[in-house]
Amino acid sequence: MANGEGDQYDSSRIASSTIAGSATSAVSDETMTRISRHYFTNDNDRSSGDGFSVDIIENIQEEYGMFVWPCAIALAEYVWQQRSRFSSKSVVELGAGTSLPGLVAAKVGANVTLTDDSKNPEQVLGLTWGEWDPPLFSLSPDFLLGADVLYDNSDFDDLFATATFLMKNCPGCVFITAYHARSGHHLIEYLMSKWGCKCTRLLDAFSTVPPTKASNLHGSIQLAEIVLNDHIT
Ligand SMILES: C[S@@+](CC[C@H](N)C(=O)[O-])C[C@H]1O[C@@H](n2cnc3c(N)ncnc32)[C@H](O)[C@@H]1O
Repeated sequence: MANGEGDQYDSSRIASSTIAGSATSAVSDETMTRISRHYFTNDNDRSSGDGFSVDIIENIQEEYGMFVWPCAIALAEYVWQQRSRFSSKSVVELGAGTSLPGLVAAKVGANVTLTDDSKNPEQVLGLTWGEWDPPLFSLSPDFLLGADVLYDNSDFDDLFATATFLMKNCPGCVFITAYHARSGHHLIEYLMSKWGCKCTRLLDAFSTVPPTKASNLHGSIQLAEIVLNDHIT
């Protein structure tokens, strides 16, 4: 996890433990972990039998990545709602942390590779943005997912370097990211232009999550679909 300027812990960015579409267990005093359960159902009706839940172990001692951040809840819900697009596709999650969007993609039938900063000891593939780690060359995703990966603007160029490299490796690849509006869409627009990309869909994430989940997500979250300029649909 990045430890640069501006990376201080900010509890307001952590998903609330009282989200109706999710449930969170009490924190274990010994391990400082808790388990959050996230529901993905049609019309938010858990009794219908459709859908599933995903349990995530969160470590509240860690500064970054060991929580389910609100952007991950928004992006995971988007993947669930757009699930027909992901079936049998190759998906790479960047800066996965606790990996909720990638896990939902796997549940709906995608072939998923979870990645995070290779400096972190997590049990996912090490892939540091802007570095040419060997695994980068073997990935050819149809979709890139990134939840709350646009939070430290000193990393933005590195993230786009990695994302565009992967998009070039797999023509038609779409990078879907959820980020806090305060990251500045104008800066992201500038980066897209610099790296030869364009935004094909920009949504207020709260328009996509069910009210029971939206009511307790903090901040303003945007969801963008980004492709290379020469992308053909
Ligand atoms: C705010 S957390 C978001 C975690 C998760 N996607 C979520 O939304 O719950 C940012 C994530 O980006 C990862 N990250 C930060 N800098 C990175 C870098 N330079 N290369 C790869 N991953 C990085 C962190 O380790 C962390 O998992």
